[in-house]
Amino acid sequence: MSLDFEALYSKNAQNLKKSVIRELLKLTNKPEIISFAGGLPAPCTFPVEDIKEIVGKVLDQEYMKALQYGATEGDVGLKEELVKFLKERNIPWITPDHLLITTASQQALDMVGKVFIDPGDSVIVGLPSYIGALGAFNAYRANLIGIPLLLDGMDVAYFKKTLKELNLKKKIPKFVYVIPDFQNPAGITFSLKTRKELLSLAHEYGFIIIEDAPYRELRYNGKAVPSLLELDKGEGMVLTLFTFSKIFIPGFRLGWIAGHPDLISKFVIAKQSMDLCTPPFTQCIAREYLKKGEINNRIRDNIALYKVKKDLMLECLDKEMPKNAGVTWTKPEGGLFLFTYLPESISADEMFHDAIKENVAYVIGSAFYCNGKGHNTFRLNFSYPSHQEIREGIKRLGNCVKKKLTGTKRSASACQGD
Ligand SMILES: Cc1ncc(COP(=O)(O)O)c(C=O)c1O
Repeated sequence: MSLDFEALYSKNAQNLKKSVIRELLKLTNKPEIISFAGGLPAPCTFPVEDIKEIVGKVLDQEYMKALQYGATEGDVGLKEELVKFLKERNIPWITPDHLLITTASQQALDMVGKVFIDPGDSVIVGLPSYIGALGAFNAYRANLIGIPLLLDGMDVAYFKKTLKELNLKKKIPKFVYVIPDFQNPAGITFSLKTRKELLSLAHEYGFIIIEDAPYRELRYNGKAVPSLLELDKGEGMVLTLFTFSKIFIPGFRLGWIAGHPDLISKFVIAKQSMDLCTPPFTQCIAREYLKKGEINNRIRDNIALYKVKKDLMLECLDKEMPKNAGVTWTKPEGGLFLFTYLPESISADEMFHDAIKENVAYVIGSAFYCNGKGHNTFRLNFSYPSHQEIREGIKRLGNCVKKKLTGTKRSASACQGD
């Protein structure tokens, strides 16, 4: 007898959907394809020599600790280093009790779902928003409510209207999920005004703000805007997710959450049943790297590298995309991505297959919209491809868009009979 596995799955598991992106990314694995699809840091940013030296030191001096199980809260020494790191970033009230080391931010997002979401709970996200967060919250059967993003962040007027409606239905969200700096996928940064308004709404309605900040350190232009954590001044309305993935090494799977100690205690309990602890070995290496004072140099070098790539991609888009045809893109001041909008009549989902034929790949924007919209959008990553790949890939993409535009014009005139 073969088992009917489907019948055994929990309601949460039945709700799990295959990631559209993962399926499409399988098509982008061929070596001849220039991929702007992933969100990978450039491998040349990995500090291999420093790591070799630190690994030797850690194994020589503290292998019994580094290779053993560790505390769920995280390595005490690493937390102390992170307190210094955050104090340098205008969070003076931070103490080790405000921190929990996580197996990178993706685990933190899952924990947010585990700790806060009951089936059917309203959760506010941006339109568009990071697909990994949408997936994590969906797994706990959240009712995702999308708020459009404007160029200076969340559309606050729309958000206020939504909150009023939800309040009438007694469905106020327990948290709002935002990526205020160089958002994934749109590359947008929230203005100070938007951040302050968001905080004041959090106080008015009693919800928490989950500030996901993987790209915050990677600013290439303009002036830094205070983080929501900084603006919160320790009042406990904001829980911020940090990660080493984009500023150090994604393969370490290392991040940290900062927030009110009571919340942190709850997250510690949630984490215990997930993985007992974040690997002590990588925590020890990260701690030593921070102690050496290398992280700020690493961030500075990453900024120098990615700024040039971002500017090059913008320059190529200007050159290769059709003019006056309703094709626009965001001009991020940092991060790893920019977002492209085609005229409504063109589906970037369909064009993806044309792009693959031209040996160039992007991520379809619709995957980031919890409301099923965004079919005319796509995300481009500029941190991983080489300069030559950016030049050639954007040229190929420009050709795809031009062909699609000519195609839609032809079919429109055929409908009109001329
Ligand atoms: C907005 C955002 N949050 C979280 C993550 C997860 O990052 P990690 O688990 O590597 O820390 C990513 C990864 O790209 C991201 O873009």
